[in-house]
Amino acid sequence: MRLNSPQINIITKACNKASRSLIRDFGEIENLQVSSKGPGDFVTSADKRTEKTIIEELQKAHPEYGIITEESGIINKSNTKNRWIIDPIDGTMNFLNGIPHFAISIGYEEDNEIKCGVIFDPIKNEMFCAEKGNGAYLNNSRIRVSNKKKLEDALLVSGGPKHSSKIKEEIFSEFVNISKTVFSPIRKFGSAALDMAYVACGRFDGYWQRELNYWDIAAGIIILKEAGGFVNFFETDKEAPLKKNVLASNSNIHDELNDLILKKNIE
Ligand code: IPD
Ligand code: CA
Ligand code: CA
Repeated sequence: MRLNSPQINIITKACNKASRSLIRDFGEIENLQVSSKGPGDFVTSADKRTEKTIIEELQKAHPEYGIITEESGIINKSNTKNRWIIDPIDGTMNFLNGIPHFAISIGYEEDNEIKCGVIFDPIKNEMFCAEKGNGAYLNNSRIRVSNKKKLEDALLVSGGPKHSSKIKEEIFSEFVNISKTVFSPIRKFGSAALDMAYVACGRFDGYWQRELNYWDIAAGIIILKEAGGFVNFFETDKEAPLKKNVLASNSNIHDELNDLILKKNIE
């Protein structure tokens, strides 16, 4: 790994520590799935335990930094200069069902700009990292977005809508509309953080999704940008800065995919 900012070192240490119990917990899931109680409560506590370990590690280094986390909300609210953005398990439904596709995602923000981030898939032992100006890496290798030129040839990934979404129909018809443009069926893998990371390393050519939370994709933003990708937050609601609609792709297909999403809404 060529990245060496103090923040990256702190984040990777926290990820490694938290992942040890997460891997053990994932091993337990199989047993729980066949039990009458099911893994629901266990997963909630695995989520909380992972987050606690991460927060403890990050706070050891910088007790004064602000933190935005999925489970505990906002810590040190007044510090908006330096902030960690944490999703302890992104891909909870996969985790819950014993599907080995989930990740820890931690980003670091300075003055509201993401400076570095790590997405760690503990089961596949894949750590995606990036630091502003220093490129993006998967474990020790530099990564880049794909070079696919035509949207119709692109392998895309998306996600949602959540059961509670009020714009389900719009999201479904957008999916249908984009599906008609590409040859390969669009994937839904169930982890926004890994979706972003997979675009960054060229496994997918593009990803879009509405109604995400900032912690789902904070680390992914810098990893994707440093891998040469483009990220766009479309139709943002200024009143809800932690809610995001995201489009992330290689530079070649970005505008066309963006137009397709926005055109659909105007119709
Ligand atoms: C979810 C995942 C999923 C996305 C959902 C997110 P969680 O995060 O990123 O891919 O479709 O919108 O809420 O709940 O597993 O942390
Ligand atoms: Ca989560
Ligand atoms: Ca998430």
